Amino acid sequence: MSSNTSTVTVDNKSVELPVKDGTIGPSVIDISKLYGQTGMFTYDPGFTSTAATESKITYIDGDKGILLYRGYPIDQLAEHGDFLETCYLLLYGELPTAAQKADFDYRVTRHTMVHDQMNRFFTGFRRDAHPMAIMVACVGALSAFYHDSTDISDPHQRMIASMRMIAKMPTLAAMAYKYSIGQPFVYPQNELDYTSNFLRMCFAVPAEEYKVNPVLSRALDRIFILHADHEQNASTSTVRLAGSSGANPFACIAAGIACLWGPAHGGANEAALKMLEEIGTPDRIPEYIAKAKDKNDPFRLMGFGHRVYKNYDPRARIMQKTTHEVLNELGIKDDPLLDVAVELEQIALKDEYFIEKKLYPNIDFYSGITLKAMGFPTSMFTVLFALARTVGWIAQWSEMIEDPSQRIGRPRQLYTGETERDYVTVAQRG
Ligand code: CMC
Repeated sequence: MSSNTSTVTVDNKSVELPVKDGTIGPSVIDISKLYGQTGMFTYDPGFTSTAATESKITYIDGDKGILLYRGYPIDQLAEHGDFLETCYLLLYGELPTAAQKADFDYRVTRHTMVHDQMNRFFTGFRRDAHPMAIMVACVGALSAFYHDSTDISDPHQRMIASMRMIAKMPTLAAMAYKYSIGQPFVYPQNELDYTSNFLRMCFAVPAEEYKVNPVLSRALDRIFILHADHEQNASTSTVRLAGSSGANPFACIAAGIACLWGPAHGGANEAALKMLEEIGTPDRIPEYIAKAKDKNDPFRLMGFGHRVYKNYDPRARIMQKTTHEVLNELGIKDDPLLDVAVELEQIALKDEYFIEKKLYPNIDFYSGITLKAMGFPTSMFTVLFALARTVGWIAQWSEMIEDPSQRIGRPRQLYTGETERDYVTVAQRG
């Protein structure tokens, strides 16, 4: 805690509020006693000035475009590490030793299969169901298979539940995809690494030998690293809020998946690709830039802008490089969507509207082009985001449960409805 305090004056009454400092980033004014001392709440819809928790996991400096997982810059992790190592780092706070890494990889790998009854959940869905709807349902349904994980006060059970979710997300995601295209489910193969295994479960068919392309596997693994955590965003806050009541962790992650689905959040990768397809050719870009700037038009440039980043999203830079690597590997010399994206980015970055509002490409701007080239349909993009973000949700959920000061999350409100009035029977209502 800082020795500083902040003084708030309400109705001529001044109260001293403690100021807390983090290791980096803005300090916070601790307003938890404000209501008791003044009878007033604070008001901050969208939480633009509110830190809802203390956390040691991820740090973002939105002005400088910096993203750190447990202190390590995202570009270093993406370049040198792998996704499971990142999972270990997020969960335990340190990079693993070789022995710890081997043990962690082994434990995750041994949990990749889902209960065979789970297959029946899938067959209850229409083939054209959105895979995010299937993921919300199936991950929530895992609560029904693992009753032991409901004892969230037991660290061992929390750890097993965490392993299960990280391990089973690729299996469920691949099943959602296979179901949508009418192909049989492909079981996990434990000798493969995490991401290669996922690619095989998505793209192998029983009738043929499937060889994983290591360049694509590495690229997808990097995409998973980029999406692994992003501090207190909407879906993570949803997971924390759901978990604050002591709910089953699988149900909490299902809540996070539901929140991620929206186009302002994880659904933006799907929306960004659809937008690029709709624009179609570079000559139509000015028309769409004009629409994005028009106050009377709800259209926004998808994959642009961010609540926290007021500079280039550091993940977007790595994603852009990955896009080129993937297209090169697949021998895609000219991708019309990439042409539109590159040109759109150039035009927007020079446009006064986007400069003034500090709107830069975010991670979702290039991810869709990359995932499409790999063979994923647009409806799977947000599923891949959910797969990768699961570890972040779990790390944040665990941190919350382990925090001795944790209480149920319960925001207050500014009530603007009717004041008290008497009930009138239906016969007496005019
Ligand atoms: N295109 C055009 N104008 C925009 C855009 C955009 N993409 N984003 C923000 N603006 C304008 C907005 O109209 C507003 O203008 P004004 O001040 O004149 O009213 C101003 O910029 C501030 O926007 P805001 O909606 O108040 O900002 P926010 O922090 O609430 O929203 C955002 C952040 C990411 C929801 C928003 O930028 C957006 O809708 N972007 C498109 C969707 C997208 O790409 N989302 C992915 C985010 S990154 C991955 C993730 O988090 O899941």
